[in-house]
Amino acid sequence: MCGIVGAVAQRDVADILLTGLQRLEYRGYDSAGMAVLSPAAELQRVRRLGKVEQLANALQQHPMTGGTGIAHTRWATHGQPSEANAHPHQSGSLVVVHNGIIENHAELRRQLEAQGYVFESQTDTEVIAHLIAEQRRQGVELLQAVMVVRKQLTGAYGMAVMDQQLPEQLVVARSGSPLVIGVGIGEHFVASDQLALLPVTQRFAFLEEGDVALLQRHDYQVFDLNDQAVERRVQESTVEHDAGDKGAFRHYMLKEIYEQPHAIRQTLAGRLENGELNLEALGDLSDIEQVQIIACGTSYHAAMTARYWIESLAQLPCNVEIASEFRYRRSVVRPRSLLVTISQSGETADTLAALRLAKEIGYQRTLTICNVPGSSLVRESDVALMTCAGVEVGVASTKAFTTQLVALLLLTAALGRGRGLDVHQQAALTDALQQLPDLIDKTLSMNADIQALAQRFAEKHHALFLGRGSQYPIAMEGALKLKEISYIHAEAYAAGELKHGPLALIDAEMPIIVVAPNNQLVEKLKSNIEEVRARGGELTIFADEAAGLTTSDNVTVLPVTHCDNLIAPIVYTLPLQLLSYHVAVIKGTDVDQPRNLAKSVTVE
Ligand code: AGP
Repeated sequence: MCGIVGAVAQRDVADILLTGLQRLEYRGYDSAGMAVLSPAAELQRVRRLGKVEQLANALQQHPMTGGTGIAHTRWATHGQPSEANAHPHQSGSLVVVHNGIIENHAELRRQLEAQGYVFESQTDTEVIAHLIAEQRRQGVELLQAVMVVRKQLTGAYGMAVMDQQLPEQLVVARSGSPLVIGVGIGEHFVASDQLALLPVTQRFAFLEEGDVALLQRHDYQVFDLNDQAVERRVQESTVEHDAGDKGAFRHYMLKEIYEQPHAIRQTLAGRLENGELNLEALGDLSDIEQVQIIACGTSYHAAMTARYWIESLAQLPCNVEIASEFRYRRSVVRPRSLLVTISQSGETADTLAALRLAKEIGYQRTLTICNVPGSSLVRESDVALMTCAGVEVGVASTKAFTTQLVALLLLTAALGRGRGLDVHQQAALTDALQQLPDLIDKTLSMNADIQALAQRFAEKHHALFLGRGSQYPIAMEGALKLKEISYIHAEAYAAGELKHGPLALIDAEMPIIVVAPNNQLVEKLKSNIEEVRARGGELTIFADEAAGLTTSDNVTVLPVTHCDNLIAPIVYTLPLQLLSYHVAVIKGTDVDQPRNLAKSVTVE
């Protein structure tokens, strides 16, 4: 939610900041702005409603020179998207960019107004600018001013502050929203995500919760929550420089769908070699008696799928809950429980808050499945099982989801040892995982057929996805993909539930998409399909070649290459991703940056 970039350098930084914003646009894209101090220490500020491209056009008209600057791409929380609400916000000589929500902003605003401060925006952020300006007016140094003000704020923030009177300084602070310092030679940078800074540095110091830092050209200092100087280790980035490029693909989403065989191979590497599982890094799980998984959105669908695996293979009870629900209810902690969080970003506010609450209420073992090394969830969990999907830029999660499923199968194998999983099942699981990247490759060859089919959905206003067993969460994921990028209302049902209500929705205007691997539930599923067909529903079925389903009136069957039932949820995700992608392209929506959404949901 919102992307921040800042730089203090000897060279002009406007282009660096702009490139950084472009690479952070996945975090929010309703307005953008930049402020740079000129060599004569004049404050230049440009803000635009709309995407970073609008800001880039404006900067062509009003080029900025100067070596110190901050920039921001916004996902609105307080105050509608508008130029006045775009960051940086200004108070006298001081400008601020902010990511997060200041919960006590109304009260602070009243106090500041009583002191004579005039507000130009409806944002919560503007209070930060005036509060720091007030400290500065009283003669407090910028660093100390930020240290004082952060104690007055409740809520979440990552912020960068620049003052015209101190042209070679930036002060940054993090509490609840990520910030990373990019270390250069004679220059330093800050951003919400290292991805923004890869064109200028590969060396990063990740700020921790409560940190404040002073950045100057030749050095930087970090202070903890108690204002004590601390060291934050500089790490060499392993993220590929071109991770933020679309290459030959029209959209990041399509590129990321096609990257799945590679992403899965990377996630298996070192953990499954020559048919042998190496899961020692997960520690001793032999005393675990129950698993609780918490996640949001697509990651929650991965969790729901895993429940089928953990209960049937590892024979451990497994609960799954949406993080925003878990964190606001009283739940019972069973002894010897493993608390698992799943998150692509590792920064999702609800999941992070749920993890913290879980620790408070007595969970003693925590594990996260995450795609971003160094993220908050990784740092705050006992064990991290990293997915190696590479950077995922498209807001609609694709390769992050399938690699989460792979990681969850590995976790199931580790939990199953010495419990339900016998030698034969373990061998079957490793075999299936080994075949998976090639199977995904084969499944991608359905692309042209799915593209041809997509037209029939583009005019529809609703769609229903059906699955049974471990394919039910996959149907849910298919529905989420369709709604988030094509804006078509879509719902998913466990097919056995149809007759309990949703059958009333079936008519020629309601397309029904079914995922039908050839498993023990396929005959039951066929009955559900007949129930829909008899009521005039138009069905599209992704079915195993051997499932015995054929195209007929109102029924289109697209054959999916045969696969082991265990990995079928992963394989059947692919056609649903491709379908939603092609429908969105036909509809002309913004595939990679759908309206109202952001990639990383770091606010509640
Ligand atoms: C899915 O396409 C969405 N981007 C969204 O549901 C996402 O999965 C959710 O916000 C959770 O994000 P996380 O995995 O980074 O925690």
